[in-house]
Amino acid sequence: MSNIESLITPEIREFLTKHRNPGSTEFADLIGKGGYIPPHPDLLVDTLAALMMGKNVLLKGPTGAGKTKFAETLSALFNQPMHMVNCSVDLDAESLIGGRFIAYKDEKQVIEFAPGPVIKAMNHGHFLYIDEVNMAKPETLPLINGVLDYRRMVTNPYTGDVVKAKQGFRVIAAINEGYIGTVPLNEALMNRFIVIEVPYIKGEELKGLIRSNSLLKDEKTIDLFVRLSQDLILAASQGKVSEEAASIRALLDACDLSTAIPPIRAIKRAISDKMEEESEKMFIQNLAETFF
Ligand SMILES: Nc1ncnc2c1ncn2[C@@H]1O[C@H](COP(=O)(O)OP(=O)(O)OP(=O)(O)O)[C@@H](O)[C@H]1O
Ligand SMILES: [Mg+2]
Repeated sequence: MSNIESLITPEIREFLTKHRNPGSTEFADLIGKGGYIPPHPDLLVDTLAALMMGKNVLLKGPTGAGKTKFAETLSALFNQPMHMVNCSVDLDAESLIGGRFIAYKDEKQVIEFAPGPVIKAMNHGHFLYIDEVNMAKPETLPLINGVLDYRRMVTNPYTGDVVKAKQGFRVIAAINEGYIGTVPLNEALMNRFIVIEVPYIKGEELKGLIRSNSLLKDEKTIDLFVRLSQDLILAASQGKVSEEAASIRALLDACDLSTAIPPIRAIKRAISDKMEEESEKMFIQNLAETFF
């Protein structure tokens, strides 16, 4: 955490000190651990600025770029518990808002309401993280449009209560464009967010991440993996391989495996065999052979 804090401008730091949750032990396990390394300081500073002003943030980037890690790091920086929603085509009002269930009180049946992540985050003034926001059916998320704009409120369809978000409530969403099963994000929904592009990290930042987050400790090999990654990012940008070939998650797996098996095989298992096209697999293996 101290590393990332050094990237924050003095103005933002002062703001952050003011906006930081002074402490909540009840939900301590929902506070993120941190660990995100931004590719450049602006990305962090802009995101913090938006959140401090009470705006919603949409993290947009390819798979394994650290979007979820970034959200957890924001939760850590603000010391704010974060409730999570994972979107899928099955996401419905209940999985967002909550649902009714039958309980027994003094041996009598009663209907109770169990709040879902949206209501919990609003009631406590916590963070809400909506992952894979474009995996949801287009008609589901508009249910919370009012939560995402200046109203910061929703009518609970199960109880009829109007829920207003407590101070501190913020929404962070993540989107992985182009992923199979995703739909373009509804314009009105997109309009309610500040968009932060989260690219794959490179160079010295990537070296630091490999050192701290993988089993690989040999500096020479780390350097080769960083160069491989750079070439994969370039190849992906030129359309020679799909974007996920450059995933940092896959690269970290390859680094781990390379401590037990030859790097070429590690790259095959962790990176190239995930590709659909034979030509992509070949391209990556050939590229790997130029390094290892
Ligand atoms: N910039 C980064 N800083 C720290 N960790 C990173 C970074 N980029 C990738 N990682 C690491 O890569 C792995 C994947 O990160 P994460 O799950 O946050 O990606 P994601 O963008 O949410 O991917 P997906 O779209 O598949 O959910 C984690 O182990 C994470 O620590
Ligand atoms: Mg994620």
